[in-house]
Amino acid sequence: MAKEEKTVKEEKKVEVEDLPGVGEATAEKLRENGYDDILSLAVASPKDLSELAGIGEGAAVKIIASARKFADVGNFESGEEIMKRRQLVKKLTSGSKNLDELIGGGLETQSITEFFGEFGSGKTQIMQQLAVNATMPEEMGGFNCDVLMIDTENTFRPERIIQMAKAKGLDPDETLRRIQVARAYNSHHQILLVEKAIEEAKGRNIKLLIVDSLTSHFRAEFMGRGSLAGRQQMLNRHMHDLLKFGLLNNAVIAVTNQVSARPDVFFGDPTAPIGGNIVGHTATFRIYLRKSKAGRRIARLIDSPNLPEGEVVIQVTEDGISDPPS
Ligand code: GTP
Ligand code: MG
Repeated sequence: MAKEEKTVKEEKKVEVEDLPGVGEATAEKLRENGYDDILSLAVASPKDLSELAGIGEGAAVKIIASARKFADVGNFESGEEIMKRRQLVKKLTSGSKNLDELIGGGLETQSITEFFGEFGSGKTQIMQQLAVNATMPEEMGGFNCDVLMIDTENTFRPERIIQMAKAKGLDPDETLRRIQVARAYNSHHQILLVEKAIEEAKGRNIKLLIVDSLTSHFRAEFMGRGSLAGRQQMLNRHMHDLLKFGLLNNAVIAVTNQVSARPDVFFGDPTAPIGGNIVGHTATFRIYLRKSKAGRRIARLIDSPNLPEGEVVIQVTEDGISDPPS
């Protein structure tokens, strides 16, 4: 197989501390609130920055102005270049033909696919199935690749992987070896693990990165303490780091998200659906899962840029995710 082009370059960048007027204490406050790179400062509003970092608005304006000088805002790309990159996109089977069809043939590389739904709706089951499927040969809808998983709720179960691998006729031990899992203990740790994943993937064939759950730490920490704007800033940055992994490795990014009272509100507070919007704007595919009868789940595609909305029925059994018998 031809070696795929790396689509994003990594460069030594200017750090927050390097900006004129930012001392150690200010830098620390900025970092704590998610402003931990130059670009996040360059696009900040003076008001948010001054409130979050406890500095005057005048100082905030100056910091933003100098961040803009140093920010690597990226370049314009021709449609031809974008098309070239799009041609590298591969699709990973979910285990259900119904669901694959709904999302245009499977989960796409270079994109984030989000599964959201209430507890027990099957999000973790789907993540574990995707991990198994990614190790399968391409003829079976897999990538024949290794998998990285960030587990924030300690719900990864090797026993489940073994069941699912056997059902696909794969060697369960080999499958377990190809799936590497890291526990994330809080939102900061979760963010750092994506950087670690980018390191880990260098020179390796890793085409699936899973975060289960994307939002649980952010939500818990926000309910406990901290500012909403700071959390959103961090979540936004996290989503972009994930997307970067997807572009660098031509990988699928699959994440889960819980719902609270309403499916459009992710932070438990119906007056503050913004966390949900941040996730929503960066995830290319969003799939809403609902429980149905007898192990069945309804999967609904929401807000896709180029596919019609619609829903399909899938099932969760001991063998994993599949189509219900018709
Ligand atoms: P939260 O993480 O709590 O938000 O839920 P989730 O959406 O991740 O739910 P999860 O994927 O863990 O789904 C759990 C459900 O999957 C169980 O309640 C069962 O209905 C189903 N399930 C899990 N394992 C098996 C299995 O071995 N056999 C069958 N038939 N169903 C299973
Ligand atoms: Mg779960």
